[in-house]
Amino acid sequence: MAKKKYKNWKINHDDDGITWLHLNVPKVSANILNEQVIIELGSIVTELSENTPAGVVILSDKESGFIAGADINEFTTFESEEEALINIQRAHTIFNNIENLSCPTVALIHGFCLGGGMELSLACCYRIAEENSSLGLPEVKLGIHPGFGGTVRSIERMGSFSALDFILTGRTLKARQAKKSGLINFAVPKRHLITAAKQTILKPPKIPALPWWEKIVNHRLVRPLIAKMLIKKVSARAARNHYPAPYAIIDLWKNHLDNRTQMLEEEAKSIAHLLVGKTAQNLIRIFKLTDQLKGLAKDKSVSIEHIHVIGGGVMGGDIAIWCALQGYNVTLQDQNHDTLAAVIKRAAKLYKRLLKQNRLVNTTLDRLMPDIKGNGLVKADIVIEAIFEDAEVKCNLYKEIEPKLKRTAIIATNTSSIPLEQLTDSLKKPERLVGLHFFNPVAKMPLVEIVVGKKTSKKAQQIATTLTKKIKKLPLPVTSTPGFLVNRILMPYLTEAVTLFEEGVPITVIDKIALDFGMPMGPIELADTVGLDICLHVAENLAESMPITVPEHLRDLVNKKILGKKTGQGFYTFKKGKKVKPKDNKNYTAPTNVKERLILIMLNETMACLREHVAESKDLIDAGIIFGTGFAPFHGGPLQYVKDRGQEQVLMALENLEKTHGPRFKPDEGWKTIVIE
Ligand code: NAI
Repeated sequence: MAKKKYKNWKINHDDDGITWLHLNVPKVSANILNEQVIIELGSIVTELSENTPAGVVILSDKESGFIAGADINEFTTFESEEEALINIQRAHTIFNNIENLSCPTVALIHGFCLGGGMELSLACCYRIAEENSSLGLPEVKLGIHPGFGGTVRSIERMGSFSALDFILTGRTLKARQAKKSGLINFAVPKRHLITAAKQTILKPPKIPALPWWEKIVNHRLVRPLIAKMLIKKVSARAARNHYPAPYAIIDLWKNHLDNRTQMLEEEAKSIAHLLVGKTAQNLIRIFKLTDQLKGLAKDKSVSIEHIHVIGGGVMGGDIAIWCALQGYNVTLQDQNHDTLAAVIKRAAKLYKRLLKQNRLVNTTLDRLMPDIKGNGLVKADIVIEAIFEDAEVKCNLYKEIEPKLKRTAIIATNTSSIPLEQLTDSLKKPERLVGLHFFNPVAKMPLVEIVVGKKTSKKAQQIATTLTKKIKKLPLPVTSTPGFLVNRILMPYLTEAVTLFEEGVPITVIDKIALDFGMPMGPIELADTVGLDICLHVAENLAESMPITVPEHLRDLVNKKILGKKTGQGFYTFKKGKKVKPKDNKNYTAPTNVKERLILIMLNETMACLREHVAESKDLIDAGIIFGTGFAPFHGGPLQYVKDRGQEQVLMALENLEKTHGPRFKPDEGWKTIVIE
């Protein structure tokens, strides 16, 4: 019977001889498996193996759930692969010891059971989860894979296909799905958790065997064929040199499934290797940056009951639809009846796809109210303005609506290029104006720039930031300078791509080079997707304050109403919204500096933004550019990329481009005065 006292674990023994291990990591809201928790668990398990109880139940005393995963802060502290391996192997030994206890063991799960927590539960004989819990092995999203025996044990419980899909996608399963897949043994209502655990220990049920065909799938001669298929699927989403983790998972399975002990050992070696690699370190950094962005909305006194959106076009319509989906009451005003009707139709389609149940679709639609007369203005806590991109039209609107607003209401403009200072004069209370710059398409883009003008009040900034977080987006405060952060960096990249095209580089070659660098979409396809008219508009706007050349070809296309995806024709042709792949000229050889031109022009502008403090820190700039433009996440953001490649080296490359391609590559003065750390 375990007797010692522990900081993270509380141990109870009941009358049936069952030992209950309660995890409650002090000073945090969610349990994490940090080094101390694991070491203490090791010592408890040693005690239990010397004096075995009738059974062991592992459970959490936290309201938030079972265990949210391993401590990712510790992931960044390993100085070498060997050090990482020693840590991983220690956890392996402890989890193996749990597995080898000569009594039944149960993981009793509620809320989140993720990563290392999921792996701990897999080392128990049984997993019983409360119906609403979410279970997952999301490690692949951090550039690693399960490392505490999870690859081996999930395959043993779920079978190869289900487990590999579960690990390779990193998706979470609700308890019922997890039960169906074999990941857990029982999904029960909360009130039955304790009884279910007791009964399972006192009368251990038989664990069902995997279906017969698993033997075929797992046969050593069949595995290489399946692995090939899986690799093909994975490589369509992520290249091996950029994201090695999914390939390592498939290799582990293919090469070592016949020998359990060896597969466990190889899993430990593989994750130790991945953990100290650049991809994992950068993805872990991004994960932490996401938390940093969410943490910016910390004012608990902000209360938003009603949102009024003006302008029901591409952006306003989608913003209203999204806010209602996230639980807000929204009135949507437009000067045009048909526009409002179109938004409601769009909303119904999206809600049906996402919410499925009619009841939920209808209550969500009830929250989205067309409001041609603007009756919602008087009760709004926040007015989101998304009308035409014209400063005068916007100012006239503000003059008209301000007298109707609540004293505390703020106005948030979705302008993509007008500095707030050009709009504030129209307001009696200029401090209530803030920018809330959503990206297109609203439902998919995670970032919202919170544009803070010279007169914007702290309160207005906080309300905008809080709303952004509440609607499950990432808020990034930026200064009110032309293009703010994201467009300012994106536009030189897009215009450079069009310039390359004008010089004769085929669009497919330009896009492929960007994809090979790790961008999620090539710049030419991106321009077509955003809309060539919008690109031109933003580029012309920015050209007034930045050394970018607006390519003539872009103007020509817009003049001819060739606007990209939305018109079916841009640089590419689109059929039913899908890009038609043009024929490649196999004999074409691209100039050697295409990648450098595309990437360095962005890096140079990023340096200018850092020097001008457009966002508060290097970290926030990297986060903004990754979440706003999709900048290859495994590089960790543009500034991290500069650091990894060498600041001096990047500067020299820029100087060379300036010599050969002119002043748009002139290195920003920041290269000489700022050291990126
Ligand atoms: P849009 O042209 O699709 O929609 C504008 C809507 O505003 C129209 O439905 C129009 O009827 C309505 N409207 C105009 N004046 C009005 C008034 N006084 N009262 C009521 N309704 C009025 O424009 P879009 O693309 O949605 O852009 C809106 C704003 O969002 C602009 O400031 C734009 O710069 C910004 N933005 C656009 C992005 C895009 O990708 N389209 C991305 C990010 C920001």
